[in-house]
Amino acid sequence: MLYVGVDLGTSSVKLLLMDELGEIIKIVTREYPIFYPKTGWSEQNPQDWFEQFINGLEELLAGQDKSQVEGISFSGQMHGMVILDDKDQVIRPAILWNDGRTQEECDYLNKEIGQEKVSSYTGNMALTGFTAPKLLWVKKHEPENFKKISKIMLPKDYIAYKLSGVHSTDVSDASGTLLFDVKNKTWSKEMLDIVGLRLDQMPQIFESYEVVGKIKESVASLLELRPDVKVIAGGGDQAVASVGTGTVGHGMCNVSLGTSGVVFVASQNYSEVEKNALHVFAHADGRYHFMGVTLAAAASNEWWMKNILLTKDYNKEQADIKNLGDNQVYYLPYLIGERTPHNNPNARGAFVGMTMETTREEMTQAVLEGVAFSLRDSLEIARANNVKVDRIRINGGGAKSQLWCKIIANVFDVEVNKINSEEGPAFGAAILAAVGCGSYSSVEEATSKLIQVTETIKQDKELVEKYNKKYQIYRDLYPALKPMYDKMIL
Ligand code: XUL
Repeated sequence: MLYVGVDLGTSSVKLLLMDELGEIIKIVTREYPIFYPKTGWSEQNPQDWFEQFINGLEELLAGQDKSQVEGISFSGQMHGMVILDDKDQVIRPAILWNDGRTQEECDYLNKEIGQEKVSSYTGNMALTGFTAPKLLWVKKHEPENFKKISKIMLPKDYIAYKLSGVHSTDVSDASGTLLFDVKNKTWSKEMLDIVGLRLDQMPQIFESYEVVGKIKESVASLLELRPDVKVIAGGGDQAVASVGTGTVGHGMCNVSLGTSGVVFVASQNYSEVEKNALHVFAHADGRYHFMGVTLAAAASNEWWMKNILLTKDYNKEQADIKNLGDNQVYYLPYLIGERTPHNNPNARGAFVGMTMETTREEMTQAVLEGVAFSLRDSLEIARANNVKVDRIRINGGGAKSQLWCKIIANVFDVEVNKINSEEGPAFGAAILAAVGCGSYSSVEEATSKLIQVTETIKQDKELVEKYNKKYQIYRDLYPALKPMYDKMIL
């Protein structure tokens, strides 16, 4: 039996073929463009996602026994607003998770409606990346488009719809819309009223491991697949990546070093976080999770390497970094504003502390450390809310760097457990497909059988102390720069 896991990311779609024993047979990646129509805006065409998904799937299955494919599931970039008209045509490009155009709409929700009220309906506060403020923005700036909306969905749900003909979403991705009552796992009537939406415009909600439907006949014949191949709902990328690292159940923590960086804690129970300082979302394992997000994590390193150092050789640039804990250069990773803990789309990146002796390696090191400090901000909020974290798992492109994992272990003062697969979201999606098709009785059963710890990076007491001191300085930098950010933004 074969399962396809699809990771619909921001720069590319990754497709992974897995057998029922969890062996990864093949991985294919296809890129698509991202558009920045104005500073701070970011959009993509859902048609580009689907085209590249289909091309990728054809390549993935070439030479394989297609009759063995049982199910397909997804991990998707979250929060993106996909709107369809009554003919199921995409009305306008999707507005993405890292688009910061909705500050006014967030102020309306958090200040005029009131953060407490919004939080009592959804468990969360309004943030510029979330879907509800995007819909309010369309309502105000593109009223003709708002009127045409027949269905709203999230990025991965568009692919599931094109395959199955069913308008669906899952509980983890729905959580990031701010239209969802996370605790009770239903659309929030109050939030729909506030935004001016009807329940029939919302997709049907599933648990991430539930079957949405079967592939349409036209799709089956195009791809030469059996017509009973199941489409399983899947989830938001962080929840599914955490399935892919076995971060399920209660108390486990996953750190993602992808484009964005995330501290993700799985929780048995729903509970609100003071001041909504972390997101409280439904998990893909049927439970809940807390999450803090650094918007530019691996994206910071990529920007530094590709745009500034003009190189793709990440290993070479990191090879000479030796003075961990002694770097005097600090980096604030707010290239596209920041979510946790500042919730400020106007924050910007900064290097502080260079001298005439500062080297190229120290600047690169500062980028890796700055992202780790920023993620520690999220961890500290979790700790302040009585969440005990003493070990973490890491996934995402940045996890390939042993140095970055070591920095994180020491900045966080936790043990880093490396596991047998680096393919967090795509692997997690394939696991959800296998659970949905009945190969495993639950997500937890699947992850306990398929995921093993292969290496542990332990923290070093002396280095932890050095980083503790540096973290205190890092924490003081944002408040010092904040008045400048306010002046710099026109
Ligand atoms: C999560 C988040 C990112 C995006 C893109 O809240 O914004 O994980 O889903 O990766």
